[in-house]
Amino acid sequence: MKIIHAESYDDLSRKAAEIIAAQIKSKPDSVLGLATGSSPVGTYKELVKMYESGELDFSRISSINLDEYVGLDGTSDQSYRFFMNDNLFDHVNIDKSNTNVPNGKAEDRDAECSRYNALRSEIGPIDMQLLGIGENVHIGFNEPSDEFIYETHVVTLTDSTIMANSRLFADPADVPRYAMTVGMETIMTAKKVLLVANGAKKAQALRDTVSGPVTPRVPASILQQHPDVTIIADAEALSLIK
Ligand code: GLP
Repeated sequence: MKIIHAESYDDLSRKAAEIIAAQIKSKPDSVLGLATGSSPVGTYKELVKMYESGELDFSRISSINLDEYVGLDGTSDQSYRFFMNDNLFDHVNIDKSNTNVPNGKAEDRDAECSRYNALRSEIGPIDMQLLGIGENVHIGFNEPSDEFIYETHVVTLTDSTIMANSRLFADPADVPRYAMTVGMETIMTAKKVLLVANGAKKAQALRDTVSGPVTPRVPASILQQHPDVTIIADAEALSLIK
């Protein structure tokens, strides 16, 4: 794993955006694996700036997002589809029909998971996967569990994830209890992985990702087995890594 030290959140966002921009320039029809959460917001802002200055062209890019809350559709401002439109897709020349987020409102969730899972071979593999990390070390919504789950699946969110994500909801009771997430196969078959993390709250998670045992109790630890992972993090997030 390669670790890049960022001086600040802005610096982290610029560095991450530069790496994604280089990917887009070298392969204009790249498949990007995209993430939600507060960590990549600055990265998306930088990418939008690069697009506005004429540096980047998203017209041939396609994307596969990691996850979505069950029960929310794209018009809900808490949905990850809404987040992606709001933070990136509405501001660049990506063809939205080439962007993919699980359908949280699908009546047949198993069928939706199968459909979504197939994307990684239909339009993938992903050229570059952007990741945040949960305080409980989840990636996407792959929560700590007894085994790594490789396929796209419905997950029951842990109390700690519900608590961590409740800050984004008006009422903690509104946080959905279930989500759909790509499994580890989609993430691990990405050609490159770029993980961004900032703040002391992520310090233990990063340490366990980088130097702990590889175990499904620490979902991101599986990245130790990926050949091309770059972590960009600030001093607080890196404070427990020697
Ligand atoms: C959510 C998402 C994850 C994200 C995590 C961390 O649970 N499913 O993909 O990495 O939040 O979010 P944040 O970056 O806001 O700390």
